[in-house]
Amino acid sequence: MNESDVKKLFEDNGQEHVFGFWNELDPSQKNNLIESCSQVDFKWLKERCDNVKNGINEIEIPTDITPAPVICLTDTKDHKEATVLGIEALKAGKVGVFLVAGGQGSRLGFNGPKGCYEVGPCTNKTLFQWHAEQIRASSIRYGVSIPWYIMTSTLNHDDTEKFFKDNDYFGLGAENVKCFKQRMVPSVDLNYKLILAQKDGLAVNPDGHGGCFWALCNRGALDDMKTRGIEYLSYFQVDNPLVKIIDPLFIGYHVKAGAQMSSKILKKAYPEEKVGHICLDEGKTTVIEYSDMPEDQMHAKGDDGELKFWAGSIAIHILSTSFVDEVGGQAKLPWHVAHKKIPFIDDFGSHVVPSSNNGIKFETFVFDALPITSSSITLEVAREEEFAPVKNADGLDSPASCRQLMSNRFGEWLEAAGKSVPRDGEGNVSINIEISPLFALDQDEFAGKCPEGLEVKDGMVL
Ligand code: UTP
Repeated sequence: MNESDVKKLFEDNGQEHVFGFWNELDPSQKNNLIESCSQVDFKWLKERCDNVKNGINEIEIPTDITPAPVICLTDTKDHKEATVLGIEALKAGKVGVFLVAGGQGSRLGFNGPKGCYEVGPCTNKTLFQWHAEQIRASSIRYGVSIPWYIMTSTLNHDDTEKFFKDNDYFGLGAENVKCFKQRMVPSVDLNYKLILAQKDGLAVNPDGHGGCFWALCNRGALDDMKTRGIEYLSYFQVDNPLVKIIDPLFIGYHVKAGAQMSSKILKKAYPEEKVGHICLDEGKTTVIEYSDMPEDQMHAKGDDGELKFWAGSIAIHILSTSFVDEVGGQAKLPWHVAHKKIPFIDDFGSHVVPSSNNGIKFETFVFDALPITSSSITLEVAREEEFAPVKNADGLDSPASCRQLMSNRFGEWLEAAGKSVPRDGEGNVSINIEISPLFALDQDEFAGKCPEGLEVKDGMVL
C-alpha cells in the first residue's frame, strides 16, 4: 500500500494518531512507519477489540469437565513396549525437536533471547546450550541426526541466529538448526488505540506459542521435515532446562496410540499452582488455564480425597507432523487477552515505560489445538526430574529456583549411584552440582558411568 492509502485506512479506522510525529520523520523513518502500519489487519483487530469491549471471552470454558485419562507414574506395564516403539522411531530418523522461543520474556526482564540466559549452577551454561547438549547426546545415543527447529520472532530472530553461529551450533551442524519467525500482531491501549513503540513503528507482539502452527507450515519448517521424513516433533519451551527433549517413552506412547498431539503433565503441587489443567470436555482433551479454571473445580476433591483435577500441563508435547500439516495453516485457535505493561511514545514524543498495565496483547496458545485432535495421550512425569522453569526475575520460577532444582536433580542421581550429597533442612541439595547431558542424559546412564572415587563437593561439574 502507498502512503496515502495507509493514512486513509488508519483514519477510517479511527487510528490516525499513529501519524502524530509524521512531520518529524526522515524519509527512511516514514517508510518504516508505513511498513509497520501496512501489517495491520483491521478486520482481525476489530473482532478482537469488539470481543473485549463486549466482555466476550473467545476461550469457551467448559462447565461439564472430567479429569483426562493419564498414564500415571505407576502405570508401568506398557512402558517397555512404548520405549521400544519410541527408540524405533528415533533410530529411523522420524523424530525432530521443536523449540518455541519467540516470546518476549518480559517477566524475566533479560535483554536478549531468553535462551541466552545463563542457568548452569556451576558453569553458567545458557539455556540454549543445555538444550543443544541434550540433542547432541541423544543424536549420539540413537545414531541419527536430530533436526532442531526453533521458532523465533522479529524481537529475537537475528540475535538467536547469531548466538548459534557464534557458538558453532554447539556441534550440531548448521544444517540441523533451523530458525524461523512467527507472526507479530499489534497491541492496543486500554481504549483500543494502536500504540507507538517508537515514532516510526507500532507496538506489536508475537502471536503466542499457538502461532507455531501457522509458522511451521508457512516458514519452510514443515517442508524441511517432509524432505527429511520427520513424522514426530518433540515440542518444548525455552525456559525449562530439565525438559527431557528426547524421551522414547513419551514418543512411543504417542506412536502406539496413533495420536496427533500428546502432553506431559505432573501432579500439581497445590490447587492454585499456575499450570494449565488437563481435562476432558465431552470426550475431547482440553487444557484450561489456571486463570480460567472455576474456583470450585480447582479445589474439587475426588472420592479418594485427592485433588480431582490434579494433572498440570508443563507445555511439553509431541506433535505429529501430519496433524500440523492437516490443521496447521488454517488452525483457528481462540485469542487470549493479556493486560500488560507496554512501553510507548507519549503525546510529547517521550519514551515511557509504564509501571502498571496500560495495554492489551492478543495471543494464541498451543494447547488450544488439543480439542481438535482425534487422538491424544497424556503422560505423567516426575516434577523433580523434568520441571524447572525460568519465568520470573526472582521468587517462584526464577533463575535461583531453577538452579536449585537442577542441583537437586543431579543430587538425586548421585544419591541413586550410592554417593552422599549434603542437603539442607528443607531437603534441598546445599551445594551446586552440574552434570552435562553429554556426560549422562538420565539417571540410568549416570548410574552406569558415575566415577568410583568421585568426590561430591560444591562446584562439581561432570
Ligand atoms: P511464556 O508464556 O513464558 O511467555 O512462553 P514469554 O513471552 O517467554 O515470557 P513473558 O510472559 O513475556 O514473561 C512460554 C514459551 O513459549 C514461547 C516462549 O519463548 C517460551 O519458550 N513463546 C511465547 C513463543 O515462542 N511465542 C510467543 O508468542 C509466546
